[in-house]
Amino acid sequence: MNVRVAPSILAADYARLGDALAAAEEGGADLVHVDVMDGHFVPNLTIGAPVVKALRKATRLPLDVHLMIERPEDTVASYLDAGADWISVHVEATRHLQRCLGAIRRGGAKAGAVLNPGTPAAALGASWDDLDFAVVMSVNPGWGGQPFLSSSITKVRRVRQDAREAGSRAVIEVDGGVDQGNAAELVEAGAEILVAGTAIYGQKDVKGAIAMLKAAARGGVRV
Ligand code: DX5
Ligand code: ZN
Repeated sequence: MNVRVAPSILAADYARLGDALAAAEEGGADLVHVDVMDGHFVPNLTIGAPVVKALRKATRLPLDVHLMIERPEDTVASYLDAGADWISVHVEATRHLQRCLGAIRRGGAKAGAVLNPGTPAAALGASWDDLDFAVVMSVNPGWGGQPFLSSSITKVRRVRQDAREAGSRAVIEVDGGVDQGNAAELVEAGAEILVAGTAIYGQKDVKGAIAMLKAAARGGVRV
């Protein structure tokens, strides 16, 4: 399986985002994960569309924008305009999931839906036709550096099975606490995109950390 690694700049130095993007490119990252938090859906507050627009100009890598915001349907157009390539919205944050996913696709980006740890896989049941990717949160969203919830492995397996049964080609992304120790198991369960903040930007050698995570995902490194 072709596993993609998406470094999360949440764990990078926000005063030096250009350097973080360059390290991701040089290290062989496949996507850059951008965490947008609104201080309502999650208690923390990060960045919005203007910063996404600036990031877009600063890297060739696709931007994977994770919207941890209430009523994403109200503002998703601004992230499309900013140049996001992949956009995911939380199923818990909108009463209009299908409208939202449709708007993302019509805007030319890949559409994703995210499940919090407490939300069952079945919440995606009516959405498979509208999804390019499904995101399993393996921590409760809001901060980086939280411990991986091991129940997420079973959830990934369940989401993959549901996708297959629905005839969906959506890829599965896992976000939160991903590191060299759980990468192989996540991939075996069906994850194809691994988001990692602390395990990449929390390390001295960022480029090396990307390579190590890729190797671990291929089953080459067991910790
Ligand atoms: C958590 C964010 C994650 C976070 C992951 O709310 O959605 O993307 O950056 O960070 P780590 O890998 O440190 O758990
Ligand atoms: Zn995220």
